[in-house]
Amino acid sequence: MAILEAERLTKVYEEGGSRVEALRGVTLELEEGEIVLLEGPSGSGKTTLMSVAGCLLSPTSGSLTVEGRGVDFRSPADMVRVRRESIGFVFQSFNLFPALTVLENVLYSLQVRGRRTPEYEREARQILQQIGLSHRLDFVPAKLSGGEKQRVAIARALSGGSRIVFADEPTANLDSHVGLEVLEIFRKLAKEEGRAVLVATHDPAVRKVADCILRIRDGLLIEEGSQDSDPTRGH
Ligand SMILES: Nc1ncnc2c1ncn2[C@@H]1O[C@H](COP(=O)(O)OP(=O)(O)O)[C@@H](O)[C@H]1O
Ligand SMILES: [Mg+2]
Repeated sequence: MAILEAERLTKVYEEGGSRVEALRGVTLELEEGEIVLLEGPSGSGKTTLMSVAGCLLSPTSGSLTVEGRGVDFRSPADMVRVRRESIGFVFQSFNLFPALTVLENVLYSLQVRGRRTPEYEREARQILQQIGLSHRLDFVPAKLSGGEKQRVAIARALSGGSRIVFADEPTANLDSHVGLEVLEIFRKLAKEEGRAVLVATHDPAVRKVADCILRIRDGLLIEEGSQDSDPTRGH
């Protein structure tokens, strides 16, 4: 069963007299246990699509169902609820709190997600151990390598048990072998924990970890195989 279903999403940015149609009717489904790549050149709508599907941004039209419930985009509270309960984000620039340690960054995220129980520190330690950072708990982000920072960001996205993870160009600031390691973490999360992972990228090297590749151009998903590249696996 699809854990996330987006139907005919459109997004028009209108600012100061200019009008950009960033999404022009995007329909997609994410399944549990699946890692999906979203490929497209800069400006094609990847970030906008993830922002709308991740309930950070309202679409101009279209609908979204997350874990079986329709999202009410007119209600900021409903969007926050969906983000807290179901969705984790990983960004290209990590977006860690520089003054907080690795452990504190994850604890903070758990607090935002409403964790108040004494077990939440155990949960944070467990996630960080799972992702191979137990030896870095007390480090601040400035003392971490790029790959380690991105792993903290992943730990944070996973905290609270989000079933859906959106990663927006997560390897763009990493050396290519580190980027592949990060992608392998995403793949494991999908396969071993049944999470649904959508990764935006324009790095062809990461294709091999994907179950499925979606291509976006000018705000529209295009058919697999209809362009230059050659996806190895599809739905
Ligand atoms: N906040 C915004 N206001 C106006 N236009 C925007 C905004 N964000 C993105 N855009 C435009 O929407 C289009 C899609 O952008 P984006 O979703 O960021 O693409 P990508 O992530 O693939 O680079 C681009 O033409 C971009 O300039
Ligand atoms: Mg982008």
